[in-house]
Amino acid sequence: MAPSPLLTPFTLADDLKLKNRMVLSPMTRGRTGDMQRPDKMTAQYYVQRASAGLIITEGTLISTVANGWVGAPEIYSKGATLAWKEVTDAVHAAGGLIFCQLWHCGRASHSSFHAKEGKAVAPSAIAINEPTIHAPIGKVPHEVPAPMTVDQIKETVADFERAAANAKAAGFDGVEIHGANGYLIDSFLQTKTNKRTDEYGGESLENRFRFLKEVTEAVLKVWPASRVGVRLSPNGVYNDQGSPDFREAFPWFVEQLDKYKLAYIHFIIGLGFGFHKLGEPMVMADFRKSTSSALMANCGYTKESGEKEITDGNSDLISYGRPWITNPDLPARFETGAKLANDPPVGVWYSPGPKGYVDYPNADGTIV
Ligand SMILES: Cc1cc2nc3c(=O)[nH]c(=O)nc-3n(C[C@H](O)[C@H](O)[C@H](O)COP(=O)(O)O)c2cc1C
Repeated sequence: MAPSPLLTPFTLADDLKLKNRMVLSPMTRGRTGDMQRPDKMTAQYYVQRASAGLIITEGTLISTVANGWVGAPEIYSKGATLAWKEVTDAVHAAGGLIFCQLWHCGRASHSSFHAKEGKAVAPSAIAINEPTIHAPIGKVPHEVPAPMTVDQIKETVADFERAAANAKAAGFDGVEIHGANGYLIDSFLQTKTNKRTDEYGGESLENRFRFLKEVTEAVLKVWPASRVGVRLSPNGVYNDQGSPDFREAFPWFVEQLDKYKLAYIHFIIGLGFGFHKLGEPMVMADFRKSTSSALMANCGYTKESGEKEITDGNSDLISYGRPWITNPDLPARFETGAKLANDPPVGVWYSPGPKGYVDYPNADGTIV
């Protein structure tokens, strides 16, 4: 019998050879404490999942003002860079490949995350229209973010570059720019959150894309294009996101990204994390038309729907999130047909400590 297409190798931009097409989707696990540094338990978690063709880390903060998640790790300090090196060394020793997801939370933050800098920053002064955010001081109402000055935009681009350089020093195989889920980059892309009247905003697609363009070009100063991916969420409502022109805007953004010949473009395309319902949801085939880049599809995929997406030619790679949490040996289970463990309870997604993190066994009962 032919092997599952998910279990066949794939090469990113003629460079990095992945042993299979099953990617560990970036997932914040909230376990790096006040120090915001990965530790031995983080390394164990990723090593347990090193049979993925590619691991993408949890969102990793590029600066202090980027922080908007309790217990999320950073990669702006020397200490965190050294701590990540222990994780990448362990993953490589286990035969895995690992990209670092570079994250700026933008308006999905609160001043109590960064007392020195004060308010969260965003393209425009529009608060997330949801009841509360989980901040270091507890559950609090969302604040109206401070609209970024052009100087702040330039500094943030430089922060992405420094974080990308730190990721290189930390031994990562590449980086993923987090342009999804209503965080800073996505909020520049979308009219819902970008009401600027300068060259970074307004209705103009070119202006809305400018920030991601500058971030991508800054990251490409330190990494070859074959080691840089970008994540987008055209259908997503997460963090109060969604813009009426999404069907026109996202293919245009992707056409621009295509020019860089990146490692991949990663889409949260499935609707399992909520859909803004502003039109017919986009599908992977919509993007295949406008790009020659490798594509990675995510959200709600099963073995069968992932195989179909690849066989139909709509995607090259499938990233899985929740299934990896409870099935650290996911490719082996797909290969042997071993029963999958249920998705994890939401209560363990972000709870500190090993429970619900490094205590899920392989199909044979062993814990690595
Ligand atoms: C616990 C948890 C944390 C997540 N953290 C991130 C993150 O840091 N960065 C990101 O881009 N997406 C994040 N996501 C979204 C996942 O990468 C993925 O898009 C989502 O789980 C849907 O895929 P799935 O249906 O295979 O789980 C997170 C999802 C979960 C469940």
